[in-house]
Amino acid sequence: MSLQVTIGLGLNSLLFLVAAVLAADQYIRDDFPADFVFGSGTSAYQYEGAAFDDGRTPAILDTFAHSGTSDGANGDITCDGYHKYKEDVKLMSHLGLEAFRFSISWSRLIPNGRGPVNPLGLQFYNNFINELIRHGIQPHVTLNHIDLPQALEDEYEGWLSRKIVKDFTTYADVCFREFGDRVLHWTTVNEASIFAIGGYDQGLSPPGRCSPPFPNVCSMGNSSTEPYIVGHNIILAHSAVATLYKKKYKGTQRGYIGFNIYNLWMIPRTNSIADVIATQRANDFYMGWLLDPLIFGEYPEIVRKNAGTRIPAFTKAESKRIKDTIDFIGVNHYTTAFVKDNPGSLQTDDRDLIADMAIDLQMAVEKIPLPLPDQNPVHPWGLYGLLEYLKQVYGNIPVYIHENGQKIRRNGTLEDTARVEYLHAYIGAVLEALRNGSNTKGYFVWTFLDCFELLDGFESSYGMYYVDLDDKDLKRNPKLSAHWYSNFLKGNSMESQDIAKLGDNPSLFL
Ligand code: FCB
Repeated sequence: MSLQVTIGLGLNSLLFLVAAVLAADQYIRDDFPADFVFGSGTSAYQYEGAAFDDGRTPAILDTFAHSGTSDGANGDITCDGYHKYKEDVKLMSHLGLEAFRFSISWSRLIPNGRGPVNPLGLQFYNNFINELIRHGIQPHVTLNHIDLPQALEDEYEGWLSRKIVKDFTTYADVCFREFGDRVLHWTTVNEASIFAIGGYDQGLSPPGRCSPPFPNVCSMGNSSTEPYIVGHNIILAHSAVATLYKKKYKGTQRGYIGFNIYNLWMIPRTNSIADVIATQRANDFYMGWLLDPLIFGEYPEIVRKNAGTRIPAFTKAESKRIKDTIDFIGVNHYTTAFVKDNPGSLQTDDRDLIADMAIDLQMAVEKIPLPLPDQNPVHPWGLYGLLEYLKQVYGNIPVYIHENGQKIRRNGTLEDTARVEYLHAYIGAVLEALRNGSNTKGYFVWTFLDCFELLDGFESSYGMYYVDLDDKDLKRNPKLSAHWYSNFLKGNSMESQDIAKLGDNPSLFL
């Protein structure tokens, strides 16, 4: 059994057996290190709107949303951040945000993905970054958040082709050259494994490719091979960008290049050895698949074994080139899941990546099968477990929690007590992890405003500000969570007993 598996087994069983709530209840901002940053975030397509303005061309997200898959909603206008960013930065500053995470729309900066820079796109991002800096807010930038230029998808099938490596590196070069004097934290790709699984195995997110057993969902694709090819090209593209930064910019700009992953915290469904090993396998597929190559230079053994010849192999030279190419891991974490061993799925011919995992995933609360429920259960120990796992398995390289937050169905109320309870508990878990030696450097609430959500359109919301979609000015209104977060950032003590009282007295933090 590999060292990783042993550590994973130990951790998972420990959390499973103890099931303790590992989260500080009462804490203040100053309990966290001074160089730890608290922020919030958005992504370009979800926030900016102005989808057809000033030279922007469509991305695969536009195409996907317009195909009716997000309840008919799309990001054409959404929160109109393209025009309202100044007002929003003022709100961020008022809130007390120390950092803000956003992504650059590749097809706004370089229409069609390749060729000349669009001066208006360049001006927008320069203005946005300058505005943040003027207000003392650190910009943390993601280069690709699901929105590959549609032109590159049409020309050579985007991430399925190795040609993407060159185009992505050229785009990154423009970003470093133009913004790198002010941006120190760069993330290449958002939720890379979920992008590959959602877009090329299940077909439920852009570019919406899959093959049976997902009948009628996709018009093209190959769920057996494409997710692995896409993952491989993402790794090569990330490492090419990281190498470019190191050679050309790091010396003067002194920034950092990170890679973002999504992970549920996985718990064995029973304490049988089979479920415990299946849990490690789930982590190896969801996280290790793309993280291991960038840190150790190779895919996890179990991923190679179960995918067989369907996963591309790295040459010796590639393996050397991709190793050690991340300065920090960006983590998106929302919820926990039970893992049950499912060896039967390995018996299927033409199996997809999900079948290669040989697991059954269930929500850790109601034991219902995924997808995710309407609201996330409050399991702060899941985040604690994940940070502990990353610390032990990946040598404690720095971590930024890029996304964590609570989904609530959009209902117009500003009293999002459930979100406050969630954030209070999860930030407490981060503090406990730090006390236990985690090298976590920052925490970003997903999300700042109620904007377009990939799977739900405008049906659900994660925002600390409500955006009135019926108002022509798209007025932003702070919810209880905005007041709560602001209070915390400004140094006040937070206790869960106060939150319990919020229902009776919502003005407690106002
Ligand atoms: C993540 C995405 C982010 C947001 C949240 C809810 O998967 O990265 O853009 O939509 O989910």
